[in-house]
Amino acid sequence: MTEPQIYKGLAGVTADTTAISKVNPESNSLLYRGYPVQELAAAVNFEDVAWLLWHGELPTEAEAREFHSAERSARTLADNVRAAIDLLPLSCHPMDVSRTAVSVIGANHPKAEDSSPEAELEKAVELFAAFPAVVAYDQRRRRGLEPVEPRDDLDYSANFLWMTFGEEAAPEVVEAFNISMILYAEHSFNASTFTARVITSTLADLHSAVTGAIGALKGPLHGGANEAVMHTFEEIGIREEESAEEATARAKAWMDEALAQKKKIMGFGHRVYKNGDSRVPTMKAALDGMIEHYGRPEILGLYEGLETAMQEAKGIKPNLDYPGGPVYHLMGFDTEMFTPLFIAARITGWTAHVMEQRAANSLIRPLAAYNGPEERHLS
Ligand code: ACO
Repeated sequence: MTEPQIYKGLAGVTADTTAISKVNPESNSLLYRGYPVQELAAAVNFEDVAWLLWHGELPTEAEAREFHSAERSARTLADNVRAAIDLLPLSCHPMDVSRTAVSVIGANHPKAEDSSPEAELEKAVELFAAFPAVVAYDQRRRRGLEPVEPRDDLDYSANFLWMTFGEEAAPEVVEAFNISMILYAEHSFNASTFTARVITSTLADLHSAVTGAIGALKGPLHGGANEAVMHTFEEIGIREEESAEEATARAKAWMDEALAQKKKIMGFGHRVYKNGDSRVPTMKAALDGMIEHYGRPEILGLYEGLETAMQEAKGIKPNLDYPGGPVYHLMGFDTEMFTPLFIAARITGWTAHVMEQRAANSLIRPLAAYNGPEERHLS
């Protein structure tokens, strides 16, 4: 019998088609429904990108008005979602809070088991609208602060920052947040999206798919890397009084030592892009803006020190999480909240994939090559 070919980690395997996004590693480009992601980040708001991912086209003015109003009216968390969050210890990771909250939001939904396209879209919009309140509520309870109610005169990003920090963010900060959400929204068959599609392929409901995807996103080889990047910065030491040059020198020394110890450095490398992640330049520009806004050159120093040392030693380039972590740090989010922010963005991509999988479903069930003991018997 011929040995089956094993594709460890499914590397290089094309599992299905998708019309939602196209990752092109050769040209380092990423298209959402045909549009380059950096063009979207420069021109539209995240709500419109969500609509684009779900519907395939950007909304008309009338559609945008109706959608914005639906989104703004679904921003409040149900009492039992808040109660469920309150039951969780502060010692648990915010990703566990997010996973639990999405599960409760799903259990509450009157159309939880309705998988018609209309019901799926309705659930996707409502989850997209409500999830920021989960992050904001959890961030505030961890700081011993009362929750802040959503404001329907603010767009998604401005309201997200309002609910988290209890004050209106500066327009540049809102813009950088909006850009980060767009860049994190969708990325083809990454581990968490594939998880959502596997769950959907069993005909399970949308919230189960998103809950499972959150589990896949938590790991540091995937979404957890934005948090891990900040832990690296913290380990090197963030010294606000330091010049960029001094920070760069310390970061380079740290990286050389870490690579000598054969450590994996979070925020670098990518399974698909081998010559640089297409989203990094746009996120780096947002980071530069935040560094200037908050007057924190030492963050740039750390960033450049690690990047340069990694490039010189191994030629490995940063991925989206590398500039993403420091952007959220400067905005004032606790480090453990960074991956829940990734969820807020990726809910759009995940739910678009749930709908696409549902529309042309086939159970996802690969084979395994058995390498355990030969058949044996109890006596
Ligand atoms: N630090 C140090 N070395 C690295 C890194 C890194 N971040 N990434 C890759 N390498 C090295 C590996 O050690 C390996 O070297 P070797 O051949 O000498 O053993 C080689 O590059 C290939 O690495 P693999 O891990 O086999 O590449 P793979 O395609 O499987 O992994 C991955 C991609 C998981 C993203 C990897 O680069 C990694 O672990 N990076 C750190 C985690 C991270 O930042 N994840 C975020 C991904 S992007 C996102 O989710 C938005």
